[in-house]
Amino acid sequence: MATAPQQRLSPGRSRRPKHGALRSAACQVLRGNWTGTSTVPSRELYPHQWSWDSAFIAIGLRHLSPVRAQQEIETLLAAQWGDGRVPHIVFNRAVPLNAYFPSPDFWRSSTAGAGTGAPRGVETSGVVQPPVHALAAWLVHGADPHTSHRRGFLARVYPRLVAWHRYLADHRDLGGHGLAAVVHPWEPGMDNSPCWDGPLERIEPAAPGSFHRADLVHGAAADRPTDLDYRRYVRLAAEYRDHGYRDAEAPHSFAVEDPGFNALFLASEYALARIAEALDGEPDPHRRRAAALTEALVERLWSTEAGQFLCRDLRAEPGARAGGERGAAAGAEARAAGAGDGHGGRLVAERSAAGLLPLLAPELPRSVVETLLRTVAGDHYGLGTAVRLLPSYDLRGTGFDRHRYWRGPAWFNVNWLLERGLRQHGAHAPADVLRAEVLHAAAASRFAEYLDPYTGQGRGAVDFGWTAALALDLLVQETAADRATFPAPGRASVPAPADVPACEYAPASANGPGYVAS
Ligand code: SER
Repeated sequence: MATAPQQRLSPGRSRRPKHGALRSAACQVLRGNWTGTSTVPSRELYPHQWSWDSAFIAIGLRHLSPVRAQQEIETLLAAQWGDGRVPHIVFNRAVPLNAYFPSPDFWRSSTAGAGTGAPRGVETSGVVQPPVHALAAWLVHGADPHTSHRRGFLARVYPRLVAWHRYLADHRDLGGHGLAAVVHPWEPGMDNSPCWDGPLERIEPAAPGSFHRADLVHGAAADRPTDLDYRRYVRLAAEYRDHGYRDAEAPHSFAVEDPGFNALFLASEYALARIAEALDGEPDPHRRRAAALTEALVERLWSTEAGQFLCRDLRAEPGARAGGERGAAAGAEARAAGAGDGHGGRLVAERSAAGLLPLLAPELPRSVVETLLRTVAGDHYGLGTAVRLLPSYDLRGTGFDRHRYWRGPAWFNVNWLLERGLRQHGAHAPADVLRAEVLHAAAASRFAEYLDPYTGQGRGAVDFGWTAALALDLLVQETAADRATFPAPGRASVPAPADVPACEYAPASANGPGYVAS
């Protein structure tokens, strides 16, 4: 663990951002990762369509081609299951089976998931990812409302998004108090977060030679989850599959209420209210559900002692320690918060950036907002002092690893969400600085998948889809703000990515290929 310098980091050099070059480079990545119906996160490491990646990608793609951004979301929703779940991967049948693990022959969605309404014409995974899709759909619509209206975009996606949220409310409220639970570490999207170490300790790992990882062909082992992690991921996914992906029958031996997942759920519920209004429908039920989610988040996951939201392990005994050995450093305070609090299970004594994402909730109590803003800048995350981008996990946690996937590296989607959360609560000055830092880091790292939070060095894949898309989105915002306020003081400069030819993002035909019904 590096020692955190306490002086505030200088927010930047005086050079003006090379906006044109950054836009062009982001455009090239999105064009290169487009398959014809959707966008891969990374050509090599993730060669299929991923659920929350596609939502974030659509948010950036809307600035280049609103129609393709609509298609991105529609392609994903075309693979929705009959019970409403939106699978976390939609497989491209043109990609060889050994290019990614777990492949379609592991998940067997069209057969094992037939009883829960898995589509027959496309193979998917059986778990889900955070529900950021309604928020993305609303933002995509806003980029070109005229074309969206003409293509009937909102009218087509709204019922599917409603069914998706209904699935989460009806099948995933495993704690019984209004929050959606995740049943696999892939579901909150932060696969190997130290928050899962405790809950995963109870899972019997799959046999070591029983599967072959494809990710290590393209990713450095030190940047990726461990083999032991994978053996537990495989056990949990196989167990779910072998119960026909039926939530009522699966044992769900991993069941966690995650504040990031639920923050996105409520932000998307507010977006559904806006979509309903635009369709002359009824927004109030959505607003009521969003408010209820906010209340449940505060009631069940807030820890005053930790100064942030924590995960709740629904399978932990209330008296037992959650978080395992690694959790010890996160504090007796969190243990006290979880012990016998009458909410079932226990709070996990680990600080993850997911616990800051409820800043997306507009109706968060002011005292909670103020505490979260202090926590972001405090010792555990060090934003603006020790680091320039929010790390994914507690800089002081014993599980911190600056290179290993979700155990510390800074991720662009999390920082984009934080930027949005800061603005939601009027913290525009830190949001401006963060936006500039994200743009700088995206350009300097060649749109890396994630970064060493201390050095800014890129880790994982480059030309990563959501990094390019979300940088583009922030660039458009910054450009718009510049028109009003230029020259703004104290902004980090954005280096020009080398050798970037101009990129014109060819707009898709406004009439198609469009929506594919399942
Ligand atoms: N993030 C996982 C992977 O690394 C799957 O969603 O493959």
